[in-house]
Amino acid sequence: MKLEEMNSKIGEIIKKLTLEEKVKMIHGDALFYSGDVERLSIPAVNMSDGPMGVRQEFPKASWLPVGNSDDFVTYCPSNSAIAATWNKDLAYEAGIVMGQEARGRGKDVILGPGINIKRVPANGRNFEYMSEDPYLISQLVVPLINGIQESDVAACVKHFALNNQETERLWVNVEIDERALREIYLPGFEAAVKDGKTESLMGAYNLFRGKHCCEDKSLLKDILRDEWGYDGTIISDWGAVHDTKAAAESPLDIEMSVTYDFDDYKLANPLIEAVKKGGAKEKDIDEKVRHILLMMFRLKMIGALAGERKAGCYNTPEHRSKVKEVADESFVLLKNDDKRLPLSDKNVKELLVIGDNAERLHSSGGGSAEIKALYEISPLMGIKSHLGGNTKVTYKRGYYVSPKEESQESWQEKSTDENLDQSAVVNARKQVSDEIRKKRDELRDEAVKAAAHFKDVILVVGLNHDYDVEGFDRDDITLPYEQDQLIEEVLKVNPDTVIVVMAGNAVSMGKWKDKAKAILWQWYCGMEGGNSLADIIFGKINPSGKLPESMPYKMEDCGALAIGEYPGRPLNDEEKKRMNAHITEEYKDGIYVGYRYYEKYNVPVQYCFGHGLSYTSFEYSNISVDLDETVIKNAKDKYFDGDEIILDEKIKNDIAANVFCSVKNTGEYFGKEIIEIYVGKNDSHVDRPIKELKGFKKAALEAGRECRASIELPLMAFSYYNKEKRAFVAETGKYQIYVGKSLQDIVKVCEIEI
Ligand code: BGC
Repeated sequence: MKLEEMNSKIGEIIKKLTLEEKVKMIHGDALFYSGDVERLSIPAVNMSDGPMGVRQEFPKASWLPVGNSDDFVTYCPSNSAIAATWNKDLAYEAGIVMGQEARGRGKDVILGPGINIKRVPANGRNFEYMSEDPYLISQLVVPLINGIQESDVAACVKHFALNNQETERLWVNVEIDERALREIYLPGFEAAVKDGKTESLMGAYNLFRGKHCCEDKSLLKDILRDEWGYDGTIISDWGAVHDTKAAAESPLDIEMSVTYDFDDYKLANPLIEAVKKGGAKEKDIDEKVRHILLMMFRLKMIGALAGERKAGCYNTPEHRSKVKEVADESFVLLKNDDKRLPLSDKNVKELLVIGDNAERLHSSGGGSAEIKALYEISPLMGIKSHLGGNTKVTYKRGYYVSPKEESQESWQEKSTDENLDQSAVVNARKQVSDEIRKKRDELRDEAVKAAAHFKDVILVVGLNHDYDVEGFDRDDITLPYEQDQLIEEVLKVNPDTVIVVMAGNAVSMGKWKDKAKAILWQWYCGMEGGNSLADIIFGKINPSGKLPESMPYKMEDCGALAIGEYPGRPLNDEEKKRMNAHITEEYKDGIYVGYRYYEKYNVPVQYCFGHGLSYTSFEYSNISVDLDETVIKNAKDKYFDGDEIILDEKIKNDIAANVFCSVKNTGEYFGKEIIEIYVGKNDSHVDRPIKELKGFKKAALEAGRECRASIELPLMAFSYYNKEKRAFVAETGKYQIYVGKSLQDIVKVCEIEI
């Protein structure tokens, strides 16, 4: 159906709706539904988390799950894992799985993907997010959304915007320079809206320049609606709306929350009252209803095409094999001295596996990303299943994880409370009684003793969802549970030990990384994670992921802490009242987030952005860059402003240069290589990062084979955001094009002139 036709039908429907019916549609009428209007056959919008699969069912008004046996699902790799594949086709496939499963479970909206920038490694939700780099996010979020929305289900890209920490997430005000906003924090969302055509988007909890995001017009109206032309549905984060009038006047469409008093939500009865008293306008409500109906038409929830809406499916063998493919490519081989990996699986008589994470299942944790996985293959299970019954696999836990107190309440019920410090998560982290210490010592001694007697030892360490968790940041990036000591002692008695770090967020490996021969990084990568791990360890799959984020030595090294502000400073009483916030934070780190900071300020990192090894080797040759003079001339002729080209919508995606690079697989294994292209301008008249990712390609090559890759660079690849001109611009002059295997492993630098 054409947009005009939909709009005219929507206009007719709005005329028939009463004020009460309209208001019913724009707020939660259950924890995961908006209100329906039976009289006019308008259904409720049925939503579900989230980023790693479709969450279990909840009753209308309780955060204790229904407990059905039919809501187990395919556990998909987290967004960090998807990002580490640097593979757009796989992002699309992951989206297909999520969309089909969501639709198969009867959902209209799946509350993901989460694409906030990983500004601080402290952020408890980094595992749900993709990267510290806006370009990588933009490239992967689009196919992910396309995959989801194939099934007539809306993606809900979250959290718009600047929700970069969990500390005081509802009450932190973010002050940020316009350039950093445009260059770092918005591009992913802009791509999701303009290229991904996301049908819905979630407004964040935090404040932006003094206003709560869901009530803020500069973000939601000026940028999202007016500048980007977004006509999809804007849904609030659960409990992110505080004021009836402000929310009514803002472009927010649906208010959701965590409490059960649905009629008292800000956009419920209080709004009806306000309209009646002249404090809010019905035409603002009409706008919200219009967006919701438009989404319903597009998803074929209503209208003539409703009979053709896709039905979806869940827990299919195809879904399981797709999530395995994504998981396979998400592992990052950080180190592999002496070709320690892969291990041979032929005639292995015995093997030792150590580590709580070898056995732990993670799918049911993390906050709203939790799911009821149909199954989850742990590392230990994957390894045992791979080797089979002729190999004796011994397991030692190695470190002790303090259990959380069982609670009859859901964390989410309390998630908008102003003081969360007494939660089970935080209490479990703080526990270090004598008894716990004793247990840790015992487990460590046992593991170290065993390690001395085995040839092959696999030690699986890392974080779990007591640390990679919604609602709480980490205090530092040290491995918890005294794992450093365990790793050091195991390496001392068995230097060949293979270390697997399983986490969704950077951890410090500084104490032992130089002593280990092989370090393999595993994300929370779905139900098949253990099988993928085994396939990689024993060489059936060659690792091909690269880091979508830098791995600093310590938390204080990152730009946000070193030159910025984190986690914010207390507001004075007047400000607190005026803004309805607790703390404020100036992003003084500006554009210097992640590698942009480490590189510019010469801060060494454990492993750099884009790093990832393979069992085979790749040789790059014949690297060159071709400029498209016609595109540049056209841009200069028409959009030149003094000394810069204004990157108008009409030209910004025009391809200005093509980078060519031959890549040969010079090793013995089939493998995949990610060719990374960075752009820098070392004589820029503005402050710029040394270089920034602007292109990449993943090539698959049999041993001995070669291919010629070509990577396009649009005009935008040369841009920075000019605040005065309120536009992305490209300076004229020389640029450096870096072609490499990672940020730091640059094979060739080509210079071009624009
Ligand atoms: C989270 C959202 C989530 C929502 C619904 C909130 O706590 O921030 O990401 O979609 O809950 O569960």
